[in-house]
Amino acid sequence: MGQIIDGKALSAAIKEEVREQVLSLEKQYGRKPCLCVVIVGENPASQVYVRNKVKAAAFTGMESRLEALPEDTSEAALLELIAALNADPAVDGILVQLPLPKHIDEEKVIDAIALDKDVDGFHPGNVAGLWLGKDCIVPCTPAGILRLIDSTGLSLSGKQAVVVGRSNIVGKPVAKLLLDRNATVTLAHSRTADLGAVTRQADVLVVAVGRAGLITGDMVKPGAVLIDVGMNRSAEGKLCGDVDFASCEPVAGWITPVPGGVGPMTIAMLMVNTIRCFRK
Ligand code: GUN
Repeated sequence: MGQIIDGKALSAAIKEEVREQVLSLEKQYGRKPCLCVVIVGENPASQVYVRNKVKAAAFTGMESRLEALPEDTSEAALLELIAALNADPAVDGILVQLPLPKHIDEEKVIDAIALDKDVDGFHPGNVAGLWLGKDCIVPCTPAGILRLIDSTGLSLSGKQAVVVGRSNIVGKPVAKLLLDRNATVTLAHSRTADLGAVTRQADVLVVAVGRAGLITGDMVKPGAVLIDVGMNRSAEGKLCGDVDFASCEPVAGWITPVPGGVGPMTIAMLMVNTIRCFRK
């Protein structure tokens, strides 16, 4: 029977720590850290994520701003807003919720965010920093995943870690973080031949593909740590991960639930990153 890794509880503990840091930073510097969240359009999932980010900021006592722009906002107008936020000394962190409407070039927008306000860690300067082992802002979901693994007490050194999914937001950065902890890392993806043969080697398995139930119990090494980054809607509208919980939980040593695993940790790490940006 796998033990549940409670991301909700861990996230609450981290947000509590951040709340205390906000109080002491305000005493020390005379102002609170401020996160600005930008959303363009009305993607319903993005609206939920953004609402939760602003709510978390309010819980920690930091300042937050929400810039909700209409779907037909031009790329130039968005870049202008980012330039203004970059120049605003009251704003410490800028997050532009992805995906953006099709007429806007995401890469251009991410590149425009000031490196030291890039709370998402998506700017090429931060990506390079991560891969070169420099002190930089680490993307929230990968950072949260490492905290979840650490909460099991397991040492990653020398372990086989398999990451399924090669996105810039999760797969690639989490692979680097696992490598930094001296795990032997395999980065698998949609073209991997015999995925089960690869995942069965994993002492730690991180799945970030976006396909409900992709990983079944027969693909899991007994006792493995299973981190499910998936956020899918079943036909009945239920939120479910990429891991088939019913068949994997009896095999795994530890497993994150969906919801209540990685999702809350992403938000907690966003708060941590905002504090880092403030200190910078
Ligand atoms: N869309 C999905 N995940 C994320 C994230 O971590 N940050 C931003 N900005 N957009 C996202």
